Amino acid sequence: MSDLKKIKDEFLLKLNENLNFNEINEIKSKLFGKNGLISSQFKKIGSINEEERKKFASDLNIIKDELLELIDTKINRIKNSEINEKLEKEKIDVTLPERSFVRGKIHPVSQTIDEISSIFSEIGFSVEEGPDVENEYNNFTALNTPDNHPARDMHDTFYLDKKKEKLLRTHTSPVQIRTMLKDKPPFKIIAPGRTYRSDSDQTHSPMFHQVEGLHIDKNINMGHLKGCLNYFIKEFFEVNKIKMRFRPSHFPFTEPSAEVDIGYEMKDGKIVIGEGNQWLEILGCGMVHPNVLKNVKIDPSKFQGYAFGIGIDRLAMLKYGIHDLRAFFDCDFRWLNHFGFDPLDVPTNYRGLSR
Ligand code: DAH
Repeated sequence: MSDLKKIKDEFLLKLNENLNFNEINEIKSKLFGKNGLISSQFKKIGSINEEERKKFASDLNIIKDELLELIDTKINRIKNSEINEKLEKEKIDVTLPERSFVRGKIHPVSQTIDEISSIFSEIGFSVEEGPDVENEYNNFTALNTPDNHPARDMHDTFYLDKKKEKLLRTHTSPVQIRTMLKDKPPFKIIAPGRTYRSDSDQTHSPMFHQVEGLHIDKNINMGHLKGCLNYFIKEFFEVNKIKMRFRPSHFPFTEPSAEVDIGYEMKDGKIVIGEGNQWLEILGCGMVHPNVLKNVKIDPSKFQGYAFGIGIDRLAMLKYGIHDLRAFFDCDFRWLNHFGFDPLDVPTNYRGLSR
């Protein structure tokens, strides 16, 4: 019997046994590995005399195909049966009721930040971030608030070193500086985030949240600021009409500066936004001071713009009827469960912000 026939008979017999995946693979490499039995027959072809060579090569190819096919069929069969077994074992009954587990909720402040970001992104603002630990320059000096400016004391700053070079940012305004330093105008950004001041009572917490807005371009004026804020307040409180008033104010980094109040009234012990004769202060704003622009190497005769800073916690309290700011940061599970939001219900302007 020729070598080829011997190999074929021997391995056909072997392959017909009940083999597992590893055993079949072992046979495969014994036959077709680098020095496998079949592979070495191929190496022999060159040394066979011409009359026999053709037949030998053709027989060898036939045997190779036959054995390979058998091996592959067996391997596939094993793989399929493994998959079927898995499918059988790991069945999921989607009709079963959900197990009782505690579902997490989104904190009202996070929800409010998502809502604010969604509203402003609709009119072309992108979201920027800055660090909580700021340097004194970005937080004050660059914002036209030099060393002995009284506004520095008003901020009740937490300094982190004796030289007062590092601090916990007292507002989100330094993100204006960071943004303008790293890029070229125009800018149209909001920057929500945590801010810190040494102050604590029912309406103040040492850590609170603000969102900064900045729009710098050619020919931007106070009308744009009013339009933008009017749009935002209406969208945020989900009302069609809003009473708004700009009160002259002072901030070192804007000129002119204003504080914005919105109208409200109390109905059945609840605040109704947009109507009534009472006024509630909700934000500070103004036209960016030329000194601020100069500090970030922008020519104020070419580019102007407005900025605003809004207290996020305050907005969340108003919108969701929360009376004590401190509750936001108590981590009381029952409170969170009551005031928190469904994690899958992401706010968008189209689907609705809070409903
Ligand atoms: N940074 C101010 C604060 O924390 C708020 C503010 C007022 C921000 C006016 C602004 C602005 O950008 O233009 O009290």
